[in-house]
Amino acid sequence: MARKDLLDLASLDRSEIDHLLEQAVPFKEVFTRSVKKVPALKGKSVLMLFYEPSTRTHSSFEVAAKRLSADVTNFDVAHSSVVKGESVRETVETLQAMRTDYIVVRHGRSGLPAMIASQTKASVVNAGDGAHAHPTQGLLDAFTLKEVFPEPEGRRVLIVGDILHSRVARSTSKVLKKLGVEVAYLGPGSLLPRTCPLGIPRFTDYEEAMRWKPDVVYLLRVQMERQEAQFFPSLREYHRVYGMTHERLKRIEDAGIWLMHPGPVNRGVELCDQAMDYSRSLINTQVENGIAVRMAVLYWLKPREG
Ligand code: CP
Repeated sequence: MARKDLLDLASLDRSEIDHLLEQAVPFKEVFTRSVKKVPALKGKSVLMLFYEPSTRTHSSFEVAAKRLSADVTNFDVAHSSVVKGESVRETVETLQAMRTDYIVVRHGRSGLPAMIASQTKASVVNAGDGAHAHPTQGLLDAFTLKEVFPEPEGRRVLIVGDILHSRVARSTSKVLKKLGVEVAYLGPGSLLPRTCPLGIPRFTDYEEAMRWKPDVVYLLRVQMERQEAQFFPSLREYHRVYGMTHERLKRIEDAGIWLMHPGPVNRGVELCDQAMDYSRSLINTQVENGIAVRMAVLYWLKPREG
């Protein structure tokens, strides 16, 4: 059953998640062809509405839409009437008059994609809203994990870092838990929720977390832009206590543990330089899979007619 919008993963049931992850498989196969395009959304239009910076999400949605043969318009916020004070509502009403079919939106305010969805017939995809949700990141993470572990139930993913400000942690945890994956959080107490949802264990000590025996260590980006207060003494100290140092990298290599990160990476903070060449790093695979998963999402959603 198709939906109009994808705003978060909380409302998706297991069969919908399975459907999207299965649909992404043939779309990934399209990348290996000499003509990397299918006519699935020919004649449809996709509007990219990014009020916050993005490299991976923006470019992979654009590539995904183009590989589905949709027409893509990039709304350039910095050179638009937004700088003259035009509100999001007025901007969306103006763009809606152009009869766009899909709006991919990123905004610093939680809940803004839902507000846009309620006022437009276009399908709205949340490409990240404040600290609330980043549903396509969660789906691409699940897809990447399933490529390594086709039966992921019971596998263990340790998410490390700034859980408090992370929409990635929220969305990725939700989808992994729905797939039966065990999730735990590790980070400074100041960057962990006091009570973790979904019965997720919470560690502040790296060694204790490693005794939990994860199959994957998923490092989050330290989000300087969302931190109003100083949550740890220094970036060097953060790297020493919670980062993937050279010494820890050797240990996870010996233990056969996989490494994930949503990007962009703060080198020397979450990851040491050597981690970029780690043989079990899935970071580039996550980026590649983002296109296939976003193709599946756009193909699945159904804008309201009329
Ligand atoms: N992972 C992610 O959302 O990256 P971007 O900010 O580059 O889109």
